[in-house]
Amino acid sequence: MTSPIDPTSTSAWTELAALHASFSPDLRGWFADDAQRVESLTFDLADLRVDLSKNLLTADVRSALVRLAEQTGVADRFAAMLAGAHINTTEDRAVLHTALRRPRGAEPALVVDGQQVDVDVQAVLDALSAFADRVRSGDWLGVTGKKVTHVVNIGIGGSDLGPVMVYEALKPYADAGIQARFVSNIDPTDLAQKTADLDPETTLFIVASKTFTTLETLTNARLARDWLWERLGAAGVDVGTDDARTAAVAHHFVAVSTALDRVAAFGIDPANAFGFWDWVGGRYSVDSAIGLSLAIALGPDVFRELLAGFHAVDEHVRSTPLERNVPVLMGLLNVWYSNFLGAQSHAVLPYAQQLNRFPAYLQQLTMESNGKSVRWDGTPVTTDTGEVFWGEPGTNGQHAFYQLIHQGTRLIPADFIAVANPAYPLADDGRDVHGLLLANFLAQTKALAFGKTAEEVEAEGTTGALVAARTFAGNRPTTSIFAPALTPAVLGQLIALYEHITFTQGAVWGINSFDQWGVELGKQLALQIAPAIEGDQDAVNAQDPSTRALLAYYHEHRR
Ligand code: F6P
Repeated sequence: MTSPIDPTSTSAWTELAALHASFSPDLRGWFADDAQRVESLTFDLADLRVDLSKNLLTADVRSALVRLAEQTGVADRFAAMLAGAHINTTEDRAVLHTALRRPRGAEPALVVDGQQVDVDVQAVLDALSAFADRVRSGDWLGVTGKKVTHVVNIGIGGSDLGPVMVYEALKPYADAGIQARFVSNIDPTDLAQKTADLDPETTLFIVASKTFTTLETLTNARLARDWLWERLGAAGVDVGTDDARTAAVAHHFVAVSTALDRVAAFGIDPANAFGFWDWVGGRYSVDSAIGLSLAIALGPDVFRELLAGFHAVDEHVRSTPLERNVPVLMGLLNVWYSNFLGAQSHAVLPYAQQLNRFPAYLQQLTMESNGKSVRWDGTPVTTDTGEVFWGEPGTNGQHAFYQLIHQGTRLIPADFIAVANPAYPLADDGRDVHGLLLANFLAQTKALAFGKTAEEVEAEGTTGALVAARTFAGNRPTTSIFAPALTPAVLGQLIALYEHITFTQGAVWGINSFDQWGVELGKQLALQIAPAIEGDQDAVNAQDPSTRALLAYYHEHRR
């Protein structure tokens, strides 16, 4: 294992610290002085137009950031990941989500740890596509011979957030009369509400779990199995014998997992299980068989287009020099904001309702990846890591939290994402409504960058204390990401862009972005506390005073 390079020990870091010491953001001045600013900071990344010009970035800072990437070995880290080196050190695994979207026949073939990766990936994709086609065409039927109308994906974290986000984004492509739903939370409300109006005879459950050990998912899968038997029985279908119940499960349950033995133990026929590999992290798995619900509801062709979008950005990241490498530049900007300008969070604001779950998806991608205090060799990090990612679609967010972005005391870099063509081109009295959405996107990025001076406020007739309240400081950094339309390829490009931004930041900080030990302690403790909830006095006594008091409240109030 090579030791991580301490970013704070590099000359580039010293240079950035010096630039920061005399840094005086002036987007108005920078735009006025440099007619080339937009051109030099705008990039075409596959179908995405990425405009970095409204960031707090000067030519000096940009060069120093690129040197930081050079001096911390970012390019080598990318090369190691793409080649299948075991860069997930704590789990001794390769990190190969990029292999999931390599086109069929890509050269040279990828062989890692003796595995013919490309061959295996294409075999699962073929099986997934064939199965999806059977369900879509009505060749796969429920136990009473009816066509599937609803697929319910049961999974959590990476086995949920990716599929639900993509489904929401690409729903206009759903063309086979099959709806997808997503159950994740162990709160029984989730399953109860999402199955309430479903017909068991036309519902197909997909149990999606990389490990097939996750408490939430296995509990929900058992609840769903009980629901199926009960509701089929209520509809007069024979589920009185083990054979009948097994047949019902065989027709209404399939699984996606790396642990096919556990799938079989649950009672799902291994013939109806789709695999992936331990080198795909949960939060990087939407492009694996975890996307089965998408292949069924949206179609295998849409799923393959999505993968092609990912691959286009992988190719860019692999072959583009650091100074023009868009995900690298965006990752470096985040380092600049986090480590030098004091930003603690990063907003992602899609001006596209279909991307309403994109911020939630990014929260797992970025925060589970880079929320780390130790580096990949176990030594402490040397600087702050992982910002808080958050956001909501525009324009809704404008009427909720934008006030703080515009006039609050904290620096919040924000990414605005928009498309030129809407999925639903509605007009209001002859006026293109999507145009109004875009006007808001442009207005917000403009207001954040250039603000409004006291003189400008006064020129409008405002006087006294109101002047300060109505003044906007500007210099609030934004990145604008624009695409022609929210196609499957564009969505794949967007996801891959953020994957590689996340990787760049982790590489600079020297952390392993592919483990998530921080979620383990809570899982262990939940298992220890469960008996206390059920009333086991020894388990209650073993708790700390605060937890004991909360348990007492629960036992007092539970009917
Ligand atoms: O929350 C931790 C985690 O391991 C995530 O990383 C993962 O995406 C999620 O749980 C679900 O895990 P699985 O797919 O194994 O059920």
